[in-house]
Amino acid sequence: MQSPENPPTPTKHLYIETVGCQMNVLDSEMVVAALRKKGYALTQDPAVADAILFNTCSVREHAEEKAYNNLHHLKHLKLQNPNKIIGVMGCMAQKDQNSIFQRVPFVDLVVGPGQLHKIPEMIEKAELGEKQQLAVSLGRREGNTEDIKRSHETFDPLRDPEMRPTPFQAYLRIQIGCDKFCTYCIVPMTRGPEQGRAPDQIVEEARILAEQGAKEITLLGQTVNSYRYVEGEKVTRIADLLERIHPIPGIERIKFVTNYPKDMTRELLETVRDLPKCSPYLHVPAQSGSDAVLKRMKRGYTIADYYEMMDRINEIIPNPSVSSDFIVGFCGETEEEFQMTVDLVKRCRFKNSFIFQYSVRPGTKGAELYEDDVPEDVKHRRNLELLEVQNKISLEDNMRFLGQTVEVLVEGPSKWSVRKGQTGEFRQMTGRTHCDRIIVWDGNMRQTGSLLPVRVTDVYAFTMMGEVETHDYVAEPEVFQLR
Ligand code: SAH
Ligand code: SF4
Ligand code: F3S
Repeated sequence: MQSPENPPTPTKHLYIETVGCQMNVLDSEMVVAALRKKGYALTQDPAVADAILFNTCSVREHAEEKAYNNLHHLKHLKLQNPNKIIGVMGCMAQKDQNSIFQRVPFVDLVVGPGQLHKIPEMIEKAELGEKQQLAVSLGRREGNTEDIKRSHETFDPLRDPEMRPTPFQAYLRIQIGCDKFCTYCIVPMTRGPEQGRAPDQIVEEARILAEQGAKEITLLGQTVNSYRYVEGEKVTRIADLLERIHPIPGIERIKFVTNYPKDMTRELLETVRDLPKCSPYLHVPAQSGSDAVLKRMKRGYTIADYYEMMDRINEIIPNPSVSSDFIVGFCGETEEEFQMTVDLVKRCRFKNSFIFQYSVRPGTKGAELYEDDVPEDVKHRRNLELLEVQNKISLEDNMRFLGQTVEVLVEGPSKWSVRKGQTGEFRQMTGRTHCDRIIVWDGNMRQTGSLLPVRVTDVYAFTMMGEVETHDYVAEPEVFQLR
């Protein structure tokens, strides 16, 4: 991994817009690092940019429509300056490939997530006038497994600290692709076969990130806890990676997302319990509370399995915080089946849930096998109903924190502070607890990046309010009954 020290004096400007999951955030970070080496600096204004990149997501139709709309809006900029380079990268680039050039003819580059290392060279060629360049990985049926895997290369060695969520929080990819093939999901097609990255590379990258000031490292994978790397006789699992990353000086917190329910093993949970830097926070999407729906989704577990996993989590980890994703209105979902999802949320009491209305994805098994037969207004109503149940639980559970002191990693000024245009030293600040709860308080910018004891004074469903403890503070475990 190289650090972006001594990049050439910037002569050109790059505008980059990123949507989708953390994988895309990380991919953008790497592309920016590579382009800095080619003399690009970032700009927030597409009008002054020499190159414009959209890092896209295909997980729901809405995200794609928005990307196409945004692309069409660039037409006048391209007309004003035909030398402006416009590129589409990410999952939609892999999924739609050449058809992007048909829909938006002034696009210069289409680059799938497994081919991002080619962007600097493609931009150079575009500067010399080459039009409509395509770089995508092989499809799931376009070759033998090894060739397909190789065509989904990661690009992780290059990083750009300025593109991180904050300078002291970094993502670290441990796994590429996905082989679960849930019937609704496009990701196995856009990101290719599941592949674990080599453990030595991962640990080395964690060390460099720590040297660059990262205090919180989030390991990324579509099913991160299914991570496996085989070298001769030796099999490395995610618990082994956690053990190896934990001692690295400078790292204070380690998280990992997203988890697959079937692979939440006792061994992994015990490792999380025993390593104090591992957050007691687990994102394990359930997707539905009905066995029949889970079967149609081909999720590979039953509700009984999911409850068993929840019991295991609660038994092993003290005060765990678990969050989930749900899809409402999946093909054939009856009112009864939906109510089973409501029951599951009530019983599992998630910290929070991300709720999505089913969006049919051409190219998936779901699109081929089932009819998208739940009307949009029913999907919408179920979404709101589930959200209401979840929000009530989030609020009730946050109440337990009233009067408690929690340890907070300070991220910077709060969204409210930014919206209000607060400037200067004293601002409303925001951060997260070890269990991933968001808290805000009246603080100052110097607190950014530090771990602070904050006493919770008020709570809402999504946020807690607090004040920084002023008396001498000792980070003894008993101070934090709730981590
Ligand atoms: N790898 C992760 C999730 C990736 S996509 C996992 O397995 O949990 C993030 C979330 O988007 C999913 O958890 C699912 O809830 C949602 N999602 C995926 N495909 C969708 C679709 N076709 N329509 C609506 N939501 C979808
Ligand atoms: Fe999609 Fe399922 Fe893979 Fe998650 S596990 S990325 S939902 S196919
Ligand atoms: Fe979207 Fe691709 Fe992530 S489809 S959710 S950006 S893996």
